[in-house]
Amino acid sequence: MLSHEDNELLSRVGKDTPMGTVMRSIWLPLCRKQYLEAGGTPRRMRLLGEDLVAFRAADGRVGVRDEKCPHRLCSLALARNEGDGLRCIYHGWKFDVSGEVVEVPTEPADRAKDFAATVPKRHKPVREAGGIVWVWLGEEEAGTFYNWNWLDIPDEQIEIRVGHAACSWLNGLETALDTAHVGVLHTNAIEDDTYIHKTDTLALSAEDKAPHFEFEMQPYGYREAALRNLGDGSKYLRLREYVMPFFSYIPVGPRDNDQLLTIYVPIDDYHSAHWDIRYNLVGPKKLTWFDGFDLDDYAPVMGNMDNLFHQDREAMKNGSWSGLPNIRHEDIAVGVSQGAIPDRTQEFLSSSDLSIVRARRMLLKAAKAAAKGEPHSIDPSIDMSELRAIEEVLEPGADWRVLQP
Ligand code: FES
Ligand SMILES: [Fe+2]
Repeated sequence: MLSHEDNELLSRVGKDTPMGTVMRSIWLPLCRKQYLEAGGTPRRMRLLGEDLVAFRAADGRVGVRDEKCPHRLCSLALARNEGDGLRCIYHGWKFDVSGEVVEVPTEPADRAKDFAATVPKRHKPVREAGGIVWVWLGEEEAGTFYNWNWLDIPDEQIEIRVGHAACSWLNGLETALDTAHVGVLHTNAIEDDTYIHKTDTLALSAEDKAPHFEFEMQPYGYREAALRNLGDGSKYLRLREYVMPFFSYIPVGPRDNDQLLTIYVPIDDYHSAHWDIRYNLVGPKKLTWFDGFDLDDYAPVMGNMDNLFHQDREAMKNGSWSGLPNIRHEDIAVGVSQGAIPDRTQEFLSSSDLSIVRARRMLLKAAKAAAKGEPHSIDPSIDMSELRAIEEVLEPGADWRVLQP
């Protein structure tokens, strides 16, 4: 369990909150690059409780700024994208990609230029990498960018999707960190031999439902080995990397297989963007995501608590474990069902929750340091180019540590 105070500390991400300060010290994924069309529709976005508008100029550059026009607060999501900037439809003020106010038609011509120079910019630093538009929401100058190993690989080796869930970012992260659920919640995938995202060894996660954990603490978070006894002395290993504050690799096969990095970014205190980045460093990706799903928000079709995520009770009578159609749908349903900010004072944790407890401890330490104005423990300059997850069977007596990158 968590105390009410600690739960609040981890869950609140607005400006001037400790966790909000931690999150504003790293580059945040905002949207897939394809979501912003050159010269096209400006997109209304929300991140860490801040309302933003993002657009792409005709030359491909991206601008991200506060949603509200600094004049009289009309939404710039309604603005005209004139190819070289956004023009507010209310009184015609125009903002270029770097946030400069370039035209103020409501001012007399002889004063307009000087006046424009005094208008607050409210522009956010932005960059594109790995098929994602990233934004910096900190007050400080933009900091180091994580050196992920998938940022420069060809398009056919990477696929990205994001879904917006009606729950705190921590619900999403903790679902990812919860290895014990794989052999239970995802029973359908384990039992269905036609399930396309099934790995050769996924079914072994149901062989021992009480995994044993070993950790190596890392400057970026931790490396976690979840080990399941297979009865003959061999062990099923799920090796994960957790990167503060909200990144988790998910094991989906041996080391040269596809990799899956998940990210759980707060939209605000009660909503979060759940990212799946699937890639293969050595060749074309083996699996693709869901045909027909909206890659910029795959979650709405999954339902909500009012319709219980379209859970199919008939299917359950006929052998389906969850009555839900796929792994991601199952993860979103359980995470949202906990409550937008769950009352974690009411939890009763078991030994399978060790990874979650470790992550909370690290996050609380970072948040408490931020609250005191001290440097916290997230350092994006740490080398993360070798990180990956691994899923495989260890021979009797083998040590998972020899598998390290
Ligand atoms: S509110 Fe945007 S120009 Fe007036
Ligand atoms: Fe899951």
